[in-house]
Amino acid sequence: MIDQRALPARLEVVACQNASRVAEAIADMTVRGAPAIGVSAAFGLALAGLQSTAADVPAWRADLASAAETLISARPTAVNLAWAVHRILRVAEANLPLADLRERLLSEAQRMADEDVATNRRMAELGSALIQDGDTILHHCNTGALATVDWGTALGVIRMAHEQGKLIFVLVDETRPRLQGARLTAWELQQYGIPYAIISDGASGYFLRSGQAQKVFFGADRVAANGDVANKIGTYMLALAAHTNDVPVYSVVPSTTVDLSLANGDQIPIEERDADEVLGIQIKGESVVPTGAKARNPAFDVTPHSLLTAIVTEKGIVYPPFIENLARTLRAEN
Ligand code: MRU
Repeated sequence: MIDQRALPARLEVVACQNASRVAEAIADMTVRGAPAIGVSAAFGLALAGLQSTAADVPAWRADLASAAETLISARPTAVNLAWAVHRILRVAEANLPLADLRERLLSEAQRMADEDVATNRRMAELGSALIQDGDTILHHCNTGALATVDWGTALGVIRMAHEQGKLIFVLVDETRPRLQGARLTAWELQQYGIPYAIISDGASGYFLRSGQAQKVFFGADRVAANGDVANKIGTYMLALAAHTNDVPVYSVVPSTTVDLSLANGDQIPIEERDADEVLGIQIKGESVVPTGAKARNPAFDVTPHSLLTAIVTEKGIVYPPFIENLARTLRAEN
C-alpha cells in the first residue's frame, strides 16, 4: 500500500506481511479512507487465512475470527471495515477443503478490490452530471484514488467532470488536524491537472456566502438509514454553511458505506484519536501550543440528512426523503 503519511513529500510503498501489520497500518493511517481500509482489511484477513498453521477447518476458522477482531477494531467509524471483514468470513464458511478455502479468501479480496474500482467509476459517471462547466467545487478531506482502491468517490466525480472537458476549479479544505486535503487531495489534483486552491477549513463559509463556490462535495465513512452521514471532522460545519447559503451539498458513497442497520447518525460510533494529532503541529520547528496544552480530537462528525441535497451511490443519485429512497435505491437490482 502507499504510505499516505509520507505524502506529498515522498511516494513510498509499504508491504504488510500479516493481518496484525495490516491492522496497524489501518490504525496509524498508513492507509486511510473508508473503501481503502475495507479492502486492505479483506487482504489482511486473506493473509491470515494463508498463514494460519491450523490443521483443520474449525481451528483455521478460529484463527480467522481472531484476526477479524483485530482488523475490525483498528478503526470504528467507517462501516466498510466491518463489512469487508464479514464478507471474507462468509466465504470462509463454504464447505470446502482447507487448501481451497485459503485460495477463495484471496480471490474474494481481489474481487472486492476490482468491484471498488468499478463502483467508483459508476458513481463518477452518475455524479458528474451534477457538475456544470465553470463550477467551483468545495471539497473536504481526501476522497480520491488514495482513499479507495482507485479512482475515488467524491474526488472521482470531480475527476470525471474534468475528463469530460468541463472547466472546473476546486477549493480544497485543508482538513485539520491531519491535513488530508492539503497533503493528499492537492497532490492528487495536481496529478490530474485540475486547478485548485487550498483553503483553511474556516474559510469555507466565506467562499460559500460570497457566491464563490457552486457545489460542495465530500465522501462518507458511514451513512445511516435516514441519510445522516458521518464523515471527516469539519464536514458538518461545511454542510451547515452551504445549506444556509443555498449551495447544493453532495455526499458520494458506495453502497458498502451505507449501514441500514442504524436508524440515524446518532448511533454511528465516532472515533476520537490521539490529542497529539492536534497538539503536535509545528511551525518552523516550534510547537504552536503551550507546553502541557490539552486537546480533543474527534476524527469524524455527523451531518444530518436535512443538510444534504443528494447522496450519490453507484446504484443511482438519491434525493430526499432519504429514509425511503436510500433503502429502495440500494436494494434495487442493477
Ligand atoms: O480519517 P480518514 O482520513 O480515514 O477519513 C476519511 C474520510 O473521512 C473520507 O472522507 C471518507 O473515508 C470517504 S473517502 C472515500
